[in-house]
Amino acid sequence: MTPLLGIFDSGLGGFTVLKRVQERHGNIPCLYLADTARVPYGEKKPYEIRAIANEVVNWLKEQEVSIVLVACNTTNSLALDVVKNVSEVNVVELINSAASMIVESRVGVLATPATASSKVYTDEIEAYRPGTFVLEQGCPALVPLIEAGHTNSNQIRLAASEYLKPLIEARVQAVVLGCSHYPLIKSLLRELLPSNVRLVDPAVGLALQLDKFLGAPAISFNPPLPFTNTRICVTSEPKAFFRTAETLLGNCPEVEIVSLRSKACLF
Ligand code: DGL
Repeated sequence: MTPLLGIFDSGLGGFTVLKRVQERHGNIPCLYLADTARVPYGEKKPYEIRAIANEVVNWLKEQEVSIVLVACNTTNSLALDVVKNVSEVNVVELINSAASMIVESRVGVLATPATASSKVYTDEIEAYRPGTFVLEQGCPALVPLIEAGHTNSNQIRLAASEYLKPLIEARVQAVVLGCSHYPLIKSLLRELLPSNVRLVDPAVGLALQLDKFLGAPAISFNPPLPFTNTRICVTSEPKAFFRTAETLLGNCPEVEIVSLRSKACLF
């Protein structure tokens, strides 16, 4: 039976993961859930993030996905155990994948405030490369701006420069894009960072980890395929999501609104 990949994020960010997966594994059937009713996740309390993860993964389970891809670092850092317990299928995650890609001894991580305070990136990188210096920087302004379609405005440029300052001062050699929204502003970050600093996209590692379950692809799918064979679901405002996705990604299939069980009684 062809596997159905269940991919979730709070919003548009998971598309950057979907793109990497399709680049490596081709036009594989995917179900993408963007929890737009509750974006951003990154400023919520850990207990809220865990409750949301429980609900989202239960919904994915009802849709009978065969592998769960955690395309949200915030959920990954605070609720990976919830995702694994609830899903009952194989789970592929971003943070562990990113840690396995680190070769530098001084590393910066840009992430949501929730991910940065959890220090899960620091722990995972330490486990792969003991003694690595890791500086995690929370970036509260970035996700709301990206969701509003900013990728190169003065506002986002200013915010990004402020967040990068401590990392540049700490002379990091690599910066991990520790939120799946950030690859959407990769060119801006590239421009603001010294040219010798490597940008690490955890989704590249995640797509490789998927080889364990899908097999290593015999051919490379380049340029990236459009998102055909992908069902896109959101929890609010499908039209706005479609418009921003088309602008940022140049392509978006039809967007469907879904209701996750018991959403109303949570917050
Ligand atoms: N894109 C998600 C992440 O990687 C969530 C961002 C948010 O909703 O704050 O953390």
